[in-house]
Amino acid sequence: MSHSTSMTEANAPVLRVRDLRVYYETPKGDVLAVDGVDLDLFEGEALGLVGESGCGKSTAAMGILQLVNPPGRIVGGSVELGGRDLLKLSEEEVRQIRWTRLALIPQGAMNSLNPTMRVASQIEDVIVAHEGAQRKEALRLRILELLRRVGLPERVYDLYPHELSGGMKQRVCIAMAIALNPRVIIADESTSALDVVVQRVVAQTIQRVRHDLGMAMIMIGHDMGLMAQMVDRIAVMYAGKVVEVAPVRALFATPRHPYAQLLIDSVPTLRERKPLRSSEGITHDPRNPPPGCIFQLRCPHVMDVCRSAAPQLKRVGPGQWAACHLYAEPAEEGGRHE
Ligand SMILES: Nc1ncnc2c1ncn2[C@@H]1O[C@H](COP(=O)(O)OP(=O)(O)OP(=O)(O)O)[C@@H](O)[C@H]1O
Ligand code: SF4
Ligand SMILES: [Mg+2]
Repeated sequence: MSHSTSMTEANAPVLRVRDLRVYYETPKGDVLAVDGVDLDLFEGEALGLVGESGCGKSTAAMGILQLVNPPGRIVGGSVELGGRDLLKLSEEEVRQIRWTRLALIPQGAMNSLNPTMRVASQIEDVIVAHEGAQRKEALRLRILELLRRVGLPERVYDLYPHELSGGMKQRVCIAMAIALNPRVIIADESTSALDVVVQRVVAQTIQRVRHDLGMAMIMIGHDMGLMAQMVDRIAVMYAGKVVEVAPVRALFATPRHPYAQLLIDSVPTLRERKPLRSSEGITHDPRNPPPGCIFQLRCPHVMDVCRSAAPQLKRVGPGQWAACHLYAEPAEEGGRHE
């Protein structure tokens, strides 16, 4: 599937994902972890990607960067960055783009820093791998500048990961991600493992760095309260699909998709934080989704049509899109046709 209208009315996106499908092979059949994801990310914007555990957020991120490992595989779709479809490039071409144009801070990144290497050497590796050897002093100054940008003191340069707090390790991962000045960063649960106070300051650092460097960012997370403060728009995923995309205010004020409504209802106030509750009600087997709408088993508004036809993303308000049969495509005011 591929809807024919752009997801906002403005300029062309820097990253444009269409009908991305990533499946995991299992003995009992393929898990359809990402099954037709559409996303647009615009210049300089922060887009939140939310949804309960297992809905496919990390798999979508790995799919976008082509870092899916067996038993996972990219089954189809397109990932356009600067007008080129990454899924059509050679492995070497994609390797060139990773870090330099498009960087990922993977889920659990701070725990995968190399324990035997000093911070400076790990950041240096990223730079040298893409730009080749350089003068020692210039490299040192560049790394110190990166540390400063993410709010780390100079002494971190010579430290090992185990000498750092969780928040500091996370900042090192951010420094690595911005080292080559990519236009787009995907941060997968970058603050989730931290305690609430540290979460907030690391989130603020990410915001500042993003503004300073003018990067666009996809922030994957569970925490709707933190998201509300951090991003411009939110995409809500359910069972491998994006079911709603909207500006933050619109999503909180008038969520349209029944799952998005449940999600927003479960946020008591914007100040109170709690993880998304998962699996309330019956969910389907991710290897064998029912025909029609993927949310039908849990939807309080399910209709006959929902059991046979899969709803596509439709414009339901200014910049707001939902995949649900409750909404008909407006005849006149639809988004720009491509
Ligand atoms: N190696 C694997 N083999 C089989 N299934 C997998 C594998 N990795 C992930 N999955 C399945 O793919 C689906 C999506 O997983 P994914 O990790 O992308 O979700 P997520 O939204 O990032 O969850 P979380 O919020 O917990 O990080 C889940 O149903 C998961 O069980
Ligand atoms: S399409 Fe039907 S089942 Fe799916 S969310 Fe909308 S009303 Fe509910
Ligand atoms: Mg994940």
